[in-house]
Amino acid sequence: MQRREFLRLCAASAATGTAPALANGDATARWYDRVRLTDAGGAPLRAAAIPAHRNLIFTYPYVTTPCFLLNLGRPAAASRRLRTADKRDYEWTGGVGPARSVVAYSAICAHQLSYPTRDISFISYRTEKSARNPHGNVIHCCSEHSQYDPAEGARVVAGPAPQPLAAILLEHDSGSDELFAVGTLGGEMFNQFFRKFEFRLALENPGAAREVVSGSASVVPLESYCRQQVKC
Ligand code: FES
Repeated sequence: MQRREFLRLCAASAATGTAPALANGDATARWYDRVRLTDAGGAPLRAAAIPAHRNLIFTYPYVTTPCFLLNLGRPAAASRRLRTADKRDYEWTGGVGPARSVVAYSAICAHQLSYPTRDISFISYRTEKSARNPHGNVIHCCSEHSQYDPAEGARVVAGPAPQPLAAILLEHDSGSDELFAVGTLGGEMFNQFFRKFEFRLALENPGAAREVVSGSASVVPLESYCRQQVKC
């Protein structure tokens, strides 16, 4: 079965109230609105047009929860069995797109919830190694140096994070090459995030801090989304 069709059937199951039959009876996929990813001008984003190794950001499933969209520049085709901090197992089934190289993750660090704001970001994808970053090609949070491997479901490769970043489930239309976000997989941190940053989110997004994204989501470079990036 094609991955796109598989995900569509899962989403349909969720919509009708039956449990989505994700691989191995997974219980941690959550389905939200099916949202088309677009470029900053509102045109559908084509998977083939996503530059490799670039930090791209969109918000999903809420207007205040940023996610990374990454083209890893190589196939991320192997499934990974992962576990949440509360010991729920799940299976991440790899990247999407023609080369299986496109992945997406919540940008909220699974340790203390550091995330890219409009002012500053301590977390981003890095190809290069550094004194604090012995692993290249990881998502690195400079707050306390949690590092996640985006080619393996954002499993934790270093640092204090107790679980992988939550994956964003993507659907790829092989005919049009368009991408859609349809849900999340793994340990969501949204409830903790809304509690911790309630005041700031309400100030920045009056009346809309928990608004669900619908229709489309604009994908922009991290440097456009956020004024300053901390590297370490
Ligand atoms: S908040 Fe990211 S490592 Fe602590």
